[in-house]
Formats: sequence, C-alpha cells, structure tokens
Amino acid sequence: MLSESAKMVKNYPVVSEDYKKAIEKCRRKLRGFIAEKKCAPLMLRIAWHSAGTFDVCTKTGGPFGTMRHAAEQNHGSNTGLNIAVSLLEPIKEQFPIISYADLYQLAGVVAVEITGGPDVPFHPGRQDKPEPPPEGRLPNATKGCDHLRDVFVKRMGLTDKDIVVLSGGHTLGACHKERSGFDGPWTTNPLIFDNTFFTEILTGEKEGLLQLPTDTALIHDPVFRPLVEKYAADEDAFFADYAESHMKLSELGFAED
Ligand code: HEM
Repeated sequence: MLSESAKMVKNYPVVSEDYKKAIEKCRRKLRGFIAEKKCAPLMLRIAWHSAGTFDVCTKTGGPFGTMRHAAEQNHGSNTGLNIAVSLLEPIKEQFPIISYADLYQLAGVVAVEITGGPDVPFHPGRQDKPEPPPEGRLPNATKGCDHLRDVFVKRMGLTDKDIVVLSGGHTLGACHKERSGFDGPWTTNPLIFDNTFFTEILTGEKEGLLQLPTDTALIHDPVFRPLVEKYAADEDAFFADYAESHMKLSELGFAED
C-alpha cells in the first residue's frame, strides 16, 4: 500500500500503446534474463547509481540513461557497472523503442521482484539525457550519517526514512575487492530480497558477512536506529516502505508534480 504522499498524482508523460506493449514484453524478457544470469544485484545497483545522481537544486543528473556513456561507467563509484550496461545491451537491441533511462529502471524493479521482494510500481516515459552528470555525487561508503543526509536529503531531496529503507537494498549482492575495495556479502542469501540486511546489522559483525561504515552508521543514529529495528522485526513493513522509496528514487526528476 502506498502512502498518501506517494499517491499524489504526478504528471506522467503519455506514452504510445506500442511503447506500453514493448515495456510489458521487455519486463517478461528481463525476468527470465536476470534470473538466468543471476545478475539481480548488479541490475539493482545500476538502477540506483543511475537515479542517485539527481540534484534537486539544479535538476541535473538522475535516472535518464546516461550510464550508457563510458564516461559515467568510469566514475570511481561505478566500477563494475560496465558489466551491467553490456548485459542489458542485447535487451535494448530487442526493444529499440525503449529508452535506456526506462530500461535501467525497469531492470532494477524486475531485479527486486524476481528475488522475492515487493512489486515496485513502474511508470514509463523517461527520456535519455545526452550528458552524464559530474563525478562524485554518489555516497562514500567510508563516511557516516551526516554524509548520508548530505547526499540523500540535501542533494537528492529524499528523507531519513528513504535512507534507511533503501539501504535494505544491500539484502542483494556483495562487495567486490577489485571494484570498491570492500569484500563480501551483507547477508547469507545474497540472491534473495528479504529483511535480513537489517537483522544482520543489528546482530553485529559476523565472520563472512560485511558491514560498510555507512551501514553501521545506521544503528548509531537516533532517527535511523528505530527504523532499522522496525524493518528487522517486520518484513511486511519493510517491503511496503521499500516499494514506495524505490519508486521515488526511480522517478527523481521525472514527471514533476
Ligand atoms: C547508503 C549509501 C550506499 C553506499 C555507501 C553503498 C555502497 C556500496 C558499495 C561499496 C558496494 C559494493 C560495490 C562492489 O564492490 O561491487 C555496493 C553494492 C551494492 N549496492 Fe550499495 N550503497 C549504498 C546504497 C545503496 C542503495 C540505496 C541500493 C539500492 C536500493 C544499493 C544497492 C546495492 C547492491 C544491490 C549492491 C550489490 C552489487 C553486486 O553484488 O554486484 N546500495 N554498495
């Protein structure tokens, strides 16, 4: 169930019937493809790193397909996302009508769905922007709560709750030494979308599992911690809030109301 604020009607662009059909067909292809390649974590990461560059003040950056450019893939925090771009290229070729912007966000939504997570509402119609945003907008994993708020709240225009619930996206995947310098998964089942990111960070560091400094910061902040506890105790609450925040993230700078 979406909250009242998320239900606020946005001015989504009208897309053609052909475009809608292509999106539905592409969604089906992505389900099979992402399951077969076991690449749901990378697909969620490309969706987030595409959208997470949005700047609410200058209205630059955001989920507008610019990750297709090598220049953005080469940004320090995007190491490894060239693989995600290459994986999605054959899908793009099958659906040339679909923008990269929509494709990358649809891949993120499908990644969550097929790993057992909530259905994140998807609205098509994002247009590809020609130029990547400047480097350095995505969060730095070695920092703390102030930094997370600078990035998510001040720059992207999201909320404290969005920070905590979206961090639960680390239920999928792992860090790779050769990409970020960090190593290992956050949970024991990195291809399943569930609330174990929150249960794990509350039980403290365990051998074989990872906590980034930014993850640990969540349990030491008076606003963040109660939310971590809530999502650890109640997976339904996590899924409902996650779906809402993921949709918001995927629509930053798109269809302003
Ligand atoms: C809160 C700030 C965040 C920081 C500092 C952060 C940092 C990182 C780092 C360092 C990695 C490892 C990359 C690698 O070595 O392969 C990673 C991976 C990942 N991140 Fe985040 N992240 C953040 C937020 C998010 C959000 C909001 C999402 C999605 C909702 C997300 C989804 C993922 C996923 C799915 C992976 C695994 C990728 C894979 O297995 O290849 N992250 N993140």
